[in-house]
Amino acid sequence: MTLRVGVIGCGFMGQAVHIPSILSESRAELLAVSDIRPILAAGVAKRWHVPLWYADYHELLENQRVDAVYVLTDKFSHYQITMDALKAGKHVFVEKPLATKYEEAVEVAEEAKRRSLVVLVGYMKRYDAGVQLARDKISSAGPPVYARAAYLGGNWTFGDPQIRPLSTQEQVPPIPRSYPDIPGHLVALYDDLVEQIHSVNTVRYLFGEPKVISARFHSGVLLSHLDAGFPISLEFGWINTGRWTEEYAAYYKDSELIVDLPPPLYRNATASVTLRGASYDTVYARVGFKWAFERETESFVSAVLDSRPYPSGAQDAAKDLEIAEELVRAVSRSEGKGEAGRLNLT
Ligand SMILES: NC(=O)c1ccc[n+]([C@@H]2O[C@H](COP(=O)([O-])OP(=O)(O)OC[C@H]3O[C@@H](n4cnc5c(N)ncnc54)[C@H](O)[C@@H]3O)[C@@H](O)[C@H]2O)c1
Repeated sequence: MTLRVGVIGCGFMGQAVHIPSILSESRAELLAVSDIRPILAAGVAKRWHVPLWYADYHELLENQRVDAVYVLTDKFSHYQITMDALKAGKHVFVEKPLATKYEEAVEVAEEAKRRSLVVLVGYMKRYDAGVQLARDKISSAGPPVYARAAYLGGNWTFGDPQIRPLSTQEQVPPIPRSYPDIPGHLVALYDDLVEQIHSVNTVRYLFGEPKVISARFHSGVLLSHLDAGFPISLEFGWINTGRWTEEYAAYYKDSELIVDLPPPLYRNATASVTLRGASYDTVYARVGFKWAFERETESFVSAVLDSRPYPSGAQDAAKDLEIAEELVRAVSRSEGKGEAGRLNLT
């Protein structure tokens, strides 16, 4: 059986990541692409030999031969396009974040459940073999004494992408922005946090469901204290040192497990996992060199065709937005108790 797929949004992620991943999956067939920029849609269809292209994604959704769509547009349109796709009876792969508000993400999750359709949210780190290994190690070791996450971003493409996307001079029409009810001066922080929502999502995947205890935003860095039955510190910011900086650590009485993630666009590495003790370092073998994005598409196809469970559904993704909103509200409560401001490295 083959899953017939349509792609909505033929920008960077569509061209450099997801179209090639779909084409590498033997049980998927890329039937149609859509982009609000018609010259780009036509060019991408031609480059990848895709039979159909549309400027209006609604027309793609009307095509009864399409079983599933990939929503790869700007985050502010994920909610609406995903809802439209579900109402048209399509399974959906949607890039993160699922929506920009918790309540919208919950609505998507309910709609998918009501219609028994798959919504897989593009948290590819959950499909990284090293991250999966670390999660297994952490869950079999029992709760750590303390856990720490540092998501400081940086050079995420690791140089030029292997596949250079086509581009055109066409402008993308402005997409209305929608945010939850948060203080205006913290909207930029919230925007960054939901754009890089992998940070919260990976903390939950590795360490369990946390509550937000407190958060401060200082010099462009969010420093937060979470609790999942043990304390977790989440440091979040964008300090571009020229490498990709994303590390998760679980500390036990006599050892520590360190998970170091590769730049997302680097195809040939999984997260590295090291167990360190007083007198040893055990570096676990890098299991499964398959790119996390390709494993993610493999899971999507298998979720639809074989009803296989998958680790990044809509209901789960809604929790990330709930925590992101809570983090920003915690920052707001902390203000007046110290300085806040954006990072300035110049
Ligand atoms: N998983 C990851 O690590 C990761 C990394 C980067 C980006 N992303 C996410 O992927 C998504 C896409 O990012 P990108 O860098 O490819 O953006 P992009 O701007 O390069 O591409 C988005 C494309 O969507 C098209 N588009 C916009 N509205 C549309 C509509 N209504 N119908 C059809 N097409 C429409 C635009 O014309 C554009 O070509 C974003 O949500 C982003 O957050 C995820």
